[in-house]
Amino acid sequence: MGSKILPCFVSGTIIKGFGRGSKALDTPTANLPESVVDALPKDLNTGIYYGWASLQGKTYKMVASIGWNPYYKNEKKSLEVHLLHKFQGDFYGEELKVIIGGYIRPEKDFSSVEELIIEIKNDIAIAERQLEEPVVNKLKNDDFFND
Ligand SMILES: Cc1cc2nc3c(=O)[nH]c(=O)nc-3n(C[C@H](O)[C@H](O)[C@H](O)COP(=O)(O)O)c2cc1C
Repeated sequence: MGSKILPCFVSGTIIKGFGRGSKALDTPTANLPESVVDALPKDLNTGIYYGWASLQGKTYKMVASIGWNPYYKNEKKSLEVHLLHKFQGDFYGEELKVIIGGYIRPEKDFSSVEELIIEIKNDIAIAERQLEEPVVNKLKNDDFFND
């Protein structure tokens, strides 16, 4: 699954999402523009991924959701990146560079927001662990982040 497409290198300016991320879910996400989403490789499946993200010259672990957020029934495909770091405030207008390193699971629908939150916590635990694996770990030092 996605073995030839990954790692996938993506960058763009952070835009406003629907604003649910930080409040209801306590996992603020940086959304990237439609043009960036449209330019993703066609055979990169929608779903939840882990990888690295660079913001203001620093690199962080991240989890990303690519797709239509079935729980919220979005009409537009989105790429949302949640950095595994506590930040104050927003980063709208800042450039975000992302290396999508590995696939976690497909997007799912849930019967309650609590279930979505539990699933996201589990995604984060998987990401934390997978990103320590040498092959994916070394991507954090990729030249892509230093240009
Ligand atoms: C790690 C992660 C996993 C997610 N998994 C799902 C999912 O399985 N189903 C879903 O509908 N949305 C999923 N989401 C998307 C959230 O619903 C989304 O981030 C939330 O709607 C906030 O969006 P907003 O900031 O644009 O309002 C996931 C988000 C993250 C960061």
